[in-house]
Amino acid sequence: MNSEGAADITETNRAAWNAARYQAWRTALGAPADEALRLRTDPEKAARRILPHLGSVAGKRICNVQGSHGRLAVSLALLGAQVTVIDFAEDNRRYAAELASAAQVGLDYVLSDIMAAADLGLGAFDALVMELGILHYHLDIAAFFRVMGRLCDAGATLVLHEFHPVQRKLFPAYPGQATDYFSADLVRAPVPDPTGEGRVLGECQYRFWTLAEVLGAALAAGFRVKAFQEHPDWNDPTLPGAYTLVADWRPA
Ligand SMILES: C[S@@+](CC[C@H](N)C(=O)[O-])C[C@H]1O[C@@H](n2cnc3c(N)ncnc32)[C@H](O)[C@@H]1O
Repeated sequence: MNSEGAADITETNRAAWNAARYQAWRTALGAPADEALRLRTDPEKAARRILPHLGSVAGKRICNVQGSHGRLAVSLALLGAQVTVIDFAEDNRRYAAELASAAQVGLDYVLSDIMAAADLGLGAFDALVMELGILHYHLDIAAFFRVMGRLCDAGATLVLHEFHPVQRKLFPAYPGQATDYFSADLVRAPVPDPTGEGRVLGECQYRFWTLAEVLGAALAAGFRVKAFQEHPDWNDPTLPGAYTLVADWRPA
């Protein structure tokens, strides 16, 4: 894949994430004011996959990578963190901005391709957090983790909670899309529809990564792995559904 091809795929994916997405979040999550009330009542709940790996977040500078509708980011802000979301979809930003305003917290939402984020002068973060559908948007996993390293202060913590490749590659939600575990092929699939109405809001192109590819890329970029966990699938607990990687930024 040459860089022009990669840029085309990023644009295809950005268009899919902007297709009626603001209204989709309102349908799925409710009006920002209603969702803000739920987050204010129990901010730990929406951050439960990330919080156990960060200690107290109060006062920390946290970057929520590809943070979408902003629920995780707003929850962390409610717990006292200074949060920046980096995501490329304006529809996501609009919902997140209204959510933060209704929750009465500050939120810095940077609209950018994450691969360009290290050149935006955002400074260095104490923690990078990301969850559930991040890495398969990237065709060069080594480059992605190098960008993560450039966003980190020395000793910063990266927490990645991600769909497990056994589920994504061998037992995918969309019939007919199973590939062999080691396949490097691009996969076309509908962008997730959070409303449950089964509408096709747009089509994305993905590249799924094996566990070894993810760990190898993180290590090569200068991260030191502190913990690695696998979690059962929500629907079939006999399969791995997700994993959590916790790593410190320790450049050589
Ligand atoms: C499946 S969502 C992530 C899940 C989200 N954290 C949540 O819990 O709902 C994927 C997100 O990645 C964003 N995204 C995909 N590729 C991107 C890129 N190259 N740069 C910035 N954001 C990107 C999309 O806009 C979307 O918000």
